[in-house]
Amino acid sequence: MKREGIRIVMVTAYDAAFARLADEAGVDVVLVGDSVGDNVLGFSGTVPVTLEHMVHHTAAVVRGVSKALVIADMPFLTAHLGSDRAVEAAGRLVQDGGAGAVKIEGASPTVLEAVQRITAAGIPVMGHIGLTPQSVNVFGGYSVQGRGEAGIQIKEDALALERAGVIGMVLELIPHTLAREISGSVSVPTIGIGAGPDCDGQVQVLHDLLGIHLTQPPRHARRLAEVGNITVSAMRQYCDEVRSGAFQRPKAE
Ligand code: KIV
Repeated sequence: MKREGIRIVMVTAYDAAFARLADEAGVDVVLVGDSVGDNVLGFSGTVPVTLEHMVHHTAAVVRGVSKALVIADMPFLTAHLGSDRAVEAAGRLVQDGGAGAVKIEGASPTVLEAVQRITAAGIPVMGHIGLTPQSVNVFGGYSVQGRGEAGIQIKEDALALERAGVIGMVLELIPHTLAREISGSVSVPTIGIGAGPDCDGQVQVLHDLLGIHLTQPPRHARRLAEVGNITVSAMRQYCDEVRSGAFQRPKAE
């Protein structure tokens, strides 16, 4: 798709119902993001999300999808405890969860080794650089990464990930010029979120697109529907009708 200039559409999903809707709409890639933590499980971020959570939600998403590629996030620390453990964790997401590929945050030497070992084991890996939410406590918040000199390291990370064998990489919250430069320098697709228009594809968190929020959405989130408000209004109608007795009355044929 990158070679042919066709933009790649990626969206997160965490259960079979929404995964089926995304698949039906024609998205290319469904990401079972560890953003399941803040969007579904009620955590304040992605750090508390475990491998067991990810396997459970990946399996549900896979049951809902018939066409799109399903990529599952490797949760916090699973790529940092040695490459044997990383291969084992990726294997769980593929064998027990049914994912077609996994995504790993960062590009440290440990991560690069994990990417190589997981790929060699037959599991495609997507990279993720820029703002990597699992490292929020190191960054000190969810802020733009790679401004000025720091951009040089992010570009080097992108090239190192490509050499390690990734099938693509997410570029999150980096300057648009840097995203454009990286996208023109690597042969694998870049998928942007808050990284401007020149990436080879875009990814968004489904709940942000639909307006369903447990926490404040990030500034780069786009809202295309008001499913949260529609749901509250339907539930209010249900409350009113049950309390008034209207709901229980038989419908006229
Ligand atoms: O977990 C997630 O939703 C992600 C996307 C923001 C890329 O990693």
